Amino acid sequence: MNAPLIDPFARAITYLRVSVTDRCDFRCVYCMSENMTFLPKKELLTLEELDRMCSTFVGLGVQKLRITGGEPLVRRDIMTFFNGMTRHLESGALKELTLTTNGSQLERFADQLYAAGVRRVNISLDTLDEQKFADITRWGRLPQVLRGVDAAQKAGLRVKINAVALKGFNEEELPTITAWCAERDMDLTWIEVMPMGDLGNEDRLGQYWSLKDVRARYADHYTVSDLAERTGGPARYVRLEETGQKIGFITPLSHNFCESCNRVRLTCTGEIYLCLGQEDMADLRSPLRASPTDNGPLEDAIRAAINLKPKGHDFDYSRQKLDGQMPRHMSHTGG
Ligand code: GTP
Ligand code: 5AD
Ligand code: SF4
Repeated sequence: MNAPLIDPFARAITYLRVSVTDRCDFRCVYCMSENMTFLPKKELLTLEELDRMCSTFVGLGVQKLRITGGEPLVRRDIMTFFNGMTRHLESGALKELTLTTNGSQLERFADQLYAAGVRRVNISLDTLDEQKFADITRWGRLPQVLRGVDAAQKAGLRVKINAVALKGFNEEELPTITAWCAERDMDLTWIEVMPMGDLGNEDRLGQYWSLKDVRARYADHYTVSDLAERTGGPARYVRLEETGQKIGFITPLSHNFCESCNRVRLTCTGEIYLCLGQEDMADLRSPLRASPTDNGPLEDAIRAAINLKPKGHDFDYSRQKLDGQMPRHMSHTGG
């Protein structure tokens, strides 16, 4: 058995987030600019290479794989990759195979995902207002996503809604979104907006809505109890006693969770990023391609990369200006 992956701060790396494409059928304002240039296809890892890469990580102790993008379900033949990962679920090496999606393609893929062993999906949805949805995603249309949510639930997938908390945008929708999730027995997680990407015209500081305020807003209307349970992701959960539902908070700004970080990210070109908020990275595509039949060099490169994992991000809005800003787009590393 291979020694597990342990970083310089004694954190065990057991969670790999894999961006399988930088493309997306939406253009969310906090994620992409309107005119994105995407990578040429030849830069991408092939589906076979993605399989080999992920399987190597699983061999090194990764137990949770989350497929992201861009929008993962717009990658051609992506089900071939999911179906390949099923063998690691069956062997017990992998505890969870899951994805984060904008929901636009779920009507088509929900049943196939379930058949591949996916049991839970996170669907990004910031508003239930059709016009606002069109505004924030630029290219997205709400009814299509709602049909995707229906399809996922019908297929037996547990759904978690991820909403970026945006001041002056979805603030007054907190009760509506919460009630909608309760009615449908879906969990809900709020995310603080991070200073990623090209912030040319965006007022990120003005949009920032601290989840401390969101929690206080809940406490005005519900009895809020902290839950100890974790999913292996960064969210902390509470239960609303009146409805029984679970609400998660992802607070990179107001409460740094880096000390318990267990994850690294693989981009669609085979780069490993050690932190969402830092530039530290390494190329894994070259060692992968250099030795098609021997995984040794790739494993060595992965271990060397894990040794570069920084202590945490430097995002900070507290001095009324943006600190720790990251020019990389979220779609590059997959959130
Ligand atoms: P589960 O807990 O398994 O449901 O998933 P998760 O919360 O790990 O995954 P999800 O894709 O739902 O993550 C939601 C968002 O949290 C991401 O898109 C990022 O915006 C943020 N996030 C996840 N991991 C990190 C991290 O390591 N650092 C920071 N700053 N943000 C993160
Ligand atoms: N800050 C916080 N969350 C973001 N996401 C994309 N860009 C940002 C940002 N700048 C979220 C999406 C989705 C996940 C993949 O990342 O809403 O839920
Ligand atoms: Fe696409 Fe998700 Fe980025 Fe929106 S946040 S543009 S849905 S990758």
